[in-house]
Amino acid sequence: MSWDADGGSGAEVAALSDKGSPGEDGFVPSALGTREHWDAVYERELQTFREFGDTGEIWFGEESMNRLIRWMQKHKIPLDASVLDIGTGNGVFLVELAKFGFSDITGIDYSPSAIQLSGSVIEKEGLSNIKLKVEDFLNLSTQLSGFHICIDKGTFDAISLNPDNAIEKRKQYVKSLSRVLKVKGFFLITSCNWTKEELLNEFSEGFELFEELPTPKFSFGGRSGNSVAALVFQKMELTTLGHFPERPHPKGERPMRSCFC
Ligand SMILES: C[S@@+](CC[C@H](N)C(=O)[O-])C[C@H]1O[C@@H](n2cnc3c(N)ncnc32)[C@H](O)[C@@H]1O
Repeated sequence: MSWDADGGSGAEVAALSDKGSPGEDGFVPSALGTREHWDAVYERELQTFREFGDTGEIWFGEESMNRLIRWMQKHKIPLDASVLDIGTGNGVFLVELAKFGFSDITGIDYSPSAIQLSGSVIEKEGLSNIKLKVEDFLNLSTQLSGFHICIDKGTFDAISLNPDNAIEKRKQYVKSLSRVLKVKGFFLITSCNWTKEELLNEFSEGFELFEELPTPKFSFGGRSGNSVAALVFQKMELTTLGHFPERPHPKGERPMRSCFC
């Protein structure tokens, strides 16, 4: 499988996403939203890593990792801040964080093969202090909590495509995020399926936009936009939680996207 710079696997995504019709939220349910899919992906990638030492694809490309690390640097996030990578995949971002100097890093993924691959990649890099756990973010074990920073690169996107009640799963995602992130903690999300406005809506309960990170612009057929949205949210004080009226989901045509369509 080969993903393009923005993380899309053209042929495969197209083949998977044209099964079924869009749901209420405009997404076509897809195998990309299932654990079986990711297990198969990371089993293959694990095999490739064992044979050739290739870590596999980096979702949204190298720049997506640099962008997040630059933000942490700019905001002087202390190197001992606890960082959680939600749906870490091959764990390459964990390696980048550790190389930058972060010392309290945890990666979770619901795919055991992804966690095995992450472990092998981390071991090859000679890093030993990164915590890894097979964990379904939508059904968390009680130990996970108190993180200063949570990162999501493509995981909320994948969850949004789950063929089995994705709307409920997205709500559960926001609840899990509220549980694991400290008050005033930051949530950095990179998405190719959601616009800034849609993400603001999804995370309106308990989170506020702190910053939008610049991402490359595209222009095609007279339309232009960003193929990827990268936002930083901050978890609000507990006293302000729960006082926000639910906003309706923005209606209208889904924006043109480069992956997970
Ligand atoms: C698009 S990949 C991104 C992987 C990685 N974040 C990266 O940037 O390369 C989505 C990842 O989310 C994981 N994932 C999807 N749903 C999950 C869930 N409910 N709990 C934990 N991990 C999940 C998948 O196994 C997969 O590794």
